[in-house]
Amino acid sequence: MNILISGANGQIGTELTMHLFQRYGKDSVFPTDVREGGDGFVSDYLDITSRDALYEYIRTHNITRIYHLAAILSGNGEKNPLTAYHVNMEGTLNVLEACREFSLERVFSPSSIAVYGGDAPRQNTPEDSILKPETMYGITKVSSELLFDYYHRRYGCDVRSLRFPGVISYKAEPGGGSTDFAVDIFRQAVDQGHYSCFVREDSRLPFMYMPDVIASIDGLMDAPQGSLRRRTYNVTGFSASAGDFAREVSSLVPGFSIEYAPDFRQAIVDQWPESIDDGPARNDWGWKAEYDLTSLGKDMIQHLKSSSAGGNPNGNSGGHVKEAS
Ligand SMILES: NC(=O)c1ccc[n+]([C@@H]2O[C@H](COP(=O)([O-])OP(=O)(O)OC[C@H]3O[C@@H](n4cnc5c(N)ncnc54)[C@H](O)[C@@H]3O)[C@@H](O)[C@H]2O)c1
Repeated sequence: MNILISGANGQIGTELTMHLFQRYGKDSVFPTDVREGGDGFVSDYLDITSRDALYEYIRTHNITRIYHLAAILSGNGEKNPLTAYHVNMEGTLNVLEACREFSLERVFSPSSIAVYGGDAPRQNTPEDSILKPETMYGITKVSSELLFDYYHRRYGCDVRSLRFPGVISYKAEPGGGSTDFAVDIFRQAVDQGHYSCFVREDSRLPFMYMPDVIASIDGLMDAPQGSLRRRTYNVTGFSASAGDFAREVSSLVPGFSIEYAPDFRQAIVDQWPESIDDGPARNDWGWKAEYDLTSLGKDMIQHLKSSSAGGNPNGNSGGHVKEAS
């Protein structure tokens, strides 16, 4: 199996690439992006909006599976809606067409809780709620989910997707989403002892820690086709407000202070669920999150402190540099 990862230098791609290197071997995994990665991370340049470039890459490297992570997220998407539309829709369509044309074995591409708008219930929101998002990012994610269903139904493409909540990690910087405050608060607490939060204290959302994100991707991609009853599943770890994060950080970083200065992203998160139902993922392929806010908080602070003291936040010795090809 030869795996292409798009958006490999992003928040999720950085860690998924390292994980897939370990699981399948570096010679079988091809990280790609349009920007340089940090920390000695090497990937090939591939603009996912170019179908010709994608097809050429697939032929050259005999790609059989794609993890498609390249996207413009909610905050940046509202600053540049046309770019978000172009990258998210063209990228997804190109990957789906590649799946059909090259008879790829399997494709993974994340969706998001941004598919929900103000009409959906905000507590324990199930997959099949009303999906009327008001952001361009959410619109592209709903459209992508519908395309996954279409390509599966019409062409038999094995496309699988997870609706992620806010993703928290310490290795790569978050990429311009509206839940980035839940990562920034830990980073700023360790660096400066203070955080100016861009949403209100009572803003409550679902979240997942990166090890659970990686485990959920493996769980879905390893599931037998027959066990799946839908293309896109909700997955979640825990729900917490900005104030809950502040209290957790205060208990771990003495003297930590916070102020709340909501910006344009407040209106975005106000539309999103406070918690989502991931019952179908639990039932169909055995999904279960490991981390809650307390266990995540301890792990985040420990790694960020070691990083700011000059240690390696990745907790490994040599990074995961692959020779550029
Ligand atoms: N991080 C989260 O909280 C979160 C939550 C829900 C869903 N998701 C989804 O997970 C996926 C990955 O998100 P992330 O947080 O790693 O995002 P990110 O912004 O950190 O990374 C996205 C990567 O895509 C790359 N990219 C942008 N345009 C490209 C193009 N034209 N061609 C190739 N690469 C391009 C960027 O350079 C970046 O490295 C996205 O589909 C996102 O919608 C993320």
